[in-house]
Amino acid sequence: RKVGVLVSGRGSNLQALLDACADPAYPAEIVLVISNIPEVYALERARTAGVPTQVIPHKGFASREAFDSEMDKALRAAGVEIVCLAGFMRLLSAGFVESWRGKMINIHPSLLPSFKGLHTHQRAIDAGVKLHGCTVHLVTPDLDDGPILVQSAVPVLAADTEGSLAARVLEQEHKAYPLALRLLAEGRVTLDGARALIRDA
Ligand code: GRF
Repeated sequence: RKVGVLVSGRGSNLQALLDACADPAYPAEIVLVISNIPEVYALERARTAGVPTQVIPHKGFASREAFDSEMDKALRAAGVEIVCLAGFMRLLSAGFVESWRGKMINIHPSLLPSFKGLHTHQRAIDAGVKLHGCTVHLVTPDLDDGPILVQSAVPVLAADTEGSLAARVLEQEHKAYPLALRLLAEGRVTLDGARALIRDA
């Protein structure tokens, strides 16, 4: 399946997906990487992997809808069937989300539904939770919501700082995201209300 990845930054999750796609047996190929910010490292990673890139600066658009529709055009023109958000730091309009319903996934650095939004690692430390982690989920109009495909948990250690905890979670993100994309690309995901049901291979 043809995949488009939306990024805004360093792109380590993009890298994990690129690495997975380098295996000919993996059921997805990345055909386009779009960044809303020029010159981010994610773009460099895509170029190194020989994947086409496009910068669509959100600042150039009068509305969220206009920006999203430009991205939509680029994704459709590239034949994209599945969209992966990988550190993409823009809210998406309801129309865009609706048009990719069931075909767009996001990775979030917490065990959802805990800690939606930003600064998840510090908030997990402050809350005193002993388990933290990451979630890959289908995107719905609500932020960091939507049917869960894959989660991975890590311990929160007494000595953890935001940085050390983030690094432990990130390592899991790089496994969880390629796994979730595989499940979706292999057609093993069906929706049951708010839940995603995963069929065995
Ligand atoms: C990751 O922690 C991801 O979970 C969150 O944003 C961060 C992106 O990191 N959505 P990277 O750009 O993939 O390295």
